[in-house]
Amino acid sequence: CYSVRSYRKRRELANIPPGPKPWPVVGSFGGFLVPSFIRRRFGQQADATGKNAAVLFTELSSVYGSVYSLFIGSQLVVVLNGYEVVREALSNHPEVFSDRPATPAITIMTKRKGIVFAPYGPVWRKQRKFCHGTLRSFGFGKLSLEPCILQGLDTVKTELQRRSEESGGAGVDLAPLITNAVSNVICSLILGQRFHHEDREFGTMLGLMVRGLEICVNSAAVLINIFPLLYYFPFGVFKELRQVEGDMTVFLKRIIANHRETLDPDNPRDLTDMYLMEMSAQQAAGEEDSSFTEDYLFYIIGDLFIAGTDTTTNSVLWILLYMVLYPDTQDKVQAEIDEVVGKHGVLSLADKGSLPFTEATIMEVQRLSVVVPLSIPHMVSKTTEFRGYTIPKGTVVLPNLWSVHRDPTVWDDPDSFNPARFLDDEGKLLRKECFIPFGIGRRVCMGEQLAKMELFLTVTSLLQAFKFRLPEGIPPPPLHGRFGLTLAPCPYTVCVSLRR
Ligand code: HEM
Repeated sequence: CYSVRSYRKRRELANIPPGPKPWPVVGSFGGFLVPSFIRRRFGQQADATGKNAAVLFTELSSVYGSVYSLFIGSQLVVVLNGYEVVREALSNHPEVFSDRPATPAITIMTKRKGIVFAPYGPVWRKQRKFCHGTLRSFGFGKLSLEPCILQGLDTVKTELQRRSEESGGAGVDLAPLITNAVSNVICSLILGQRFHHEDREFGTMLGLMVRGLEICVNSAAVLINIFPLLYYFPFGVFKELRQVEGDMTVFLKRIIANHRETLDPDNPRDLTDMYLMEMSAQQAAGEEDSSFTEDYLFYIIGDLFIAGTDTTTNSVLWILLYMVLYPDTQDKVQAEIDEVVGKHGVLSLADKGSLPFTEATIMEVQRLSVVVPLSIPHMVSKTTEFRGYTIPKGTVVLPNLWSVHRDPTVWDDPDSFNPARFLDDEGKLLRKECFIPFGIGRRVCMGEQLAKMELFLTVTSLLQAFKFRLPEGIPPPPLHGRFGLTLAPCPYTVCVSLRR
């Protein structure tokens, strides 16, 4: 039996996509992970070469082709490059390419529950359907998030102006203000409440989240994927990771318990209330093996915080950075906003259709920055033939979204910043199917509509109120960004002046 299995395995491996030779123990990719961690440890920018991992992966495709393979430790990873290849795998073969890997770090931390890292199957489908439907109702229903987003932006504007005046021309770091505003939207969604940006409880929670992510992505903790037992090491980042995880668990469990005690079924306040109500409904209907449990809710809340904050925050930061680097485009967006709502009018989602150039600008920055450049890892659920290669069951698949948005076969002059590529001859917005910053297929981003609402309202409100520019004498940051959980712009500061 063993020899038949190993013969089959060898035959499958013989036809896997080409790629760099694996190193013993760490694999071909470990060579990338470990040095980048060491460079960070010793204070050097991992991106000193000016290239993030997605750029390097895109370059490898010119050597090995648009479908190639790597090893992380003993794990086979296939990287998909370019629009046609990514679409063919995720849209045309969704039953095979929509699973998520059970890598050690992910399994330890998520137990493969929630939505983001849950295996593809009926449980994931039911949970996602319920949460997606609830999120959609927040856009337009009685729990609409629009006033909540606008309220948060008022605080950002006041603080931005105050801090800019106090900075004496050195400029303001936008990141903490935008992070607070975006996290507050998720808080309203899940907890039904907003927090003042100086609230201690809110600060502690944000701090835990940021630190947890930093440890997972930017420290020796990445080695857990190669040596899983490191997670239980009683010192260093491994101990800190378990501590942060524990504190976060206490925080989230308290939120769920509070909701359970104060729930009013006639007046659901947020997603947590709606989930608890669905749980009771399923129990009342006698669904004994229902996956709607408080345990699952716990992981879903964690997923939404993590998937919904870093991504949206960094997208807003990228858009404002491009606005200071391209002041003519900033002027044009502001002129369009003035024409539609005036300098004093209150912006609303209903104005979206009347601001095509603004929408095109947001999309063009999303295309060039690609905040989730390697998507979230997928996994093939059965051995499959793809483009002449064999991809064995359990192979991790990375859809390289960076390569899709720089693919010269679908974008003219892909490296240049040109919002007009999203407009037709009459200035109307063009929907391009090769524009997929939220992914494609069954695992497409569940928060896409919410994120688009946030991006539109945040960018238009801030550009309506302020003119943004770089501080005098300070060079612009490089555009290759910093690769953590998502691709963030390198730190920068801006000066603002009131337009009204
Ligand atoms: C998944 C992008 C905002 C929730 C994803 C994926 C991408 C993405 C590329 C992976 C798709 C795949 O695996 O093929 C973005 C971007 C955002 C954003 C660019 C902001 C500009 C949000 C927000 C939320 C959210 C605001 C929720 C509140 C999720 C969830 C998944 C996901 C739950 C996992 C879906 C699944 O596995 O079924 N997102 N996202 N995202 N996103 Fe987003």
